[in-house]
Amino acid sequence: MPIYNDTLSKYITDLFAKQDDAQRRALEDSPRRGLPAISITPEEGRFLQMLARMCGAVKAVEIGTLGGHSGIWIARGLAPGGKLVTLERARAHAEVAHEHFAAAGVADRVDIRLGDAHATLQNLASEGPFDFVFIDAEKSGYPFYFDWALAHVRVGGVIAAHNAFRYGDVVGRDVPPEHLHDTDNMREFNRRVAAEPRVISTIYPAGDGTVVAVKIA
Ligand SMILES: C[S@@+](CC[C@H](N)C(=O)[O-])C[C@H]1O[C@@H](n2cnc3c(N)ncnc32)[C@H](O)[C@@H]1O
Repeated sequence: MPIYNDTLSKYITDLFAKQDDAQRRALEDSPRRGLPAISITPEEGRFLQMLARMCGAVKAVEIGTLGGHSGIWIARGLAPGGKLVTLERARAHAEVAHEHFAAAGVADRVDIRLGDAHATLQNLASEGPFDFVFIDAEKSGYPFYFDWALAHVRVGGVIAAHNAFRYGDVVGRDVPPEHLHDTDNMREFNRRVAAEPRVISTIYPAGDGTVVAVKIA
């Protein structure tokens, strides 16, 4: 059996996740403008786009906008007439993302809400139910974000969460002390989702791993 590696990842990306100029700019321009280089990869973006379309997402939520790279992929997967609400606490990130959404031609479909997602989600609840939620913010918040998503996604809707592997550390034995807290958060989060009877779930293993769960009850 071939072992999934960077060469196979590139093979998939070149075939299925080719980026246009706006997507490339959202990915490459964000770090140049001082944002951390922690966007999802194009391969992961293509997967999110597909998930959004597969569940017919009209109402989607993203937690953690950064420069808008993942948001562009999701927005391009929405069903006709769909909207993505993306939550970001750093004003500078939201401003850069806004430019990238405009350049990608999705600004009419994307609503950036500035503020701490824990507070924003309380207000957003009344706008549900939602079809799709993507979690990609601080790891200690994942249990709260997942519980919120479970409560506000319709049956048949999809919840996805990035960094399931925590850069491989979830199965590592010698995790550097500075990574231990987030690694433990992700280990606990993965166990929690795997044991949740109201979803069918797994980890999509490209990039840093994406937990994906479809709500069944
Ligand atoms: C990993 S980055 C998101 C990357 C983005 N999804 C992409 O792939 O293009 C995480 C983002 O979440 C934001 N963030 C972290 N904690 C947050 C919180 N509690 N509320 C809102 N945004 C938060 C950070 O400022 C950062 O921009």
